[in-house]
Amino acid sequence: MQAKPLQAGEKVLLIDGRDRRYLVTLKSGERWHSHLGLVEHDDLIGGPEGRSVRTTNGARVLVFRPTFADFVLKMKRGAQVVYPKDIGLILVNADVFPGARVLEAGTGSGSLTLALARAVGETGLVVSYESRQDHHEQAVANIAAWYQSLGGKPENVDLRVGDVFEEITDTMFDRMVFDLPEPWHALEKTTRSLAPGGIVCCYLPTIPQVQQIVEALRAHGFGLITTLEGLVRTWNVEGQSVRPDHRMVGHTGFLVTARSMAPNAPS
Ligand SMILES: C[S@@+](CC[C@H](N)C(=O)[O-])C[C@H]1O[C@@H](n2cnc3c(N)ncnc32)[C@H](O)[C@@H]1O
Repeated sequence: MQAKPLQAGEKVLLIDGRDRRYLVTLKSGERWHSHLGLVEHDDLIGGPEGRSVRTTNGARVLVFRPTFADFVLKMKRGAQVVYPKDIGLILVNADVFPGARVLEAGTGSGSLTLALARAVGETGLVVSYESRQDHHEQAVANIAAWYQSLGGKPENVDLRVGDVFEEITDTMFDRMVFDLPEPWHALEKTTRSLAPGGIVCCYLPTIPQVQQIVEALRAHGFGLITTLEGLVRTWNVEGQSVRPDHRMVGHTGFLVTARSMAPNAPS
């Protein structure tokens, strides 16, 4: 397969010898400046990714297109983003499939929205509510930047400003994903707008919130209620030093998923 050359307007990740990562948008005539020296964008444009270049001071820098996880960790944040380690768990446990219609709130910085849009694909739809105008605008910018770098537009994402507790309509969704402090307020309307068998997934940082949502899900007749958290530990593998890294992300959030029951079904 022919490697696609890097183009002006694309984002690249420059990685120095100490694994410091810099997200750069390529523009003809511009330079990347750092304490390691300069790199001319024109020396990267037209070349392949996956190579090592030298700065004007002779330091080596790796050049790659950013992965989705690289991008969400580097993009500007209005609200705290869902970390890549949890995004994977959410997509699988909420069973977000190609063609699914997903309701999300709050959009925040748009990290999870992007992941949901990738998972539902061109035939699916993500409707995402954000109550804060500034967070909504940051998410719009982040999502546009990611798609622009890929040369496309987010046709399957519908970003709306509003309180999801007020806004959920009787439109039917296959999946609902809530990353906001009090998702239990949404359940009254969720039960009407989530197809039987559909999945609601709540991402919550604290156990009192988990207790409250689980009790509310039971009270609203949801089935198969499951709570989990994901711990990810990277390892150092160098010669005889084969051990977990000293630092890890200790806690992010808990995931509570549940399935919608058909009317009058015993849960
Ligand atoms: C933790 S952030 C979401 C981060 C997002 N999942 C991401 O990965 O970028 C929570 C967001 O929910 C929004 N929010 C809180 N209550 C809301 C509501 N009732 N309706 C819509 N958005 C709400 C907040 O303004 C905030 O931006």
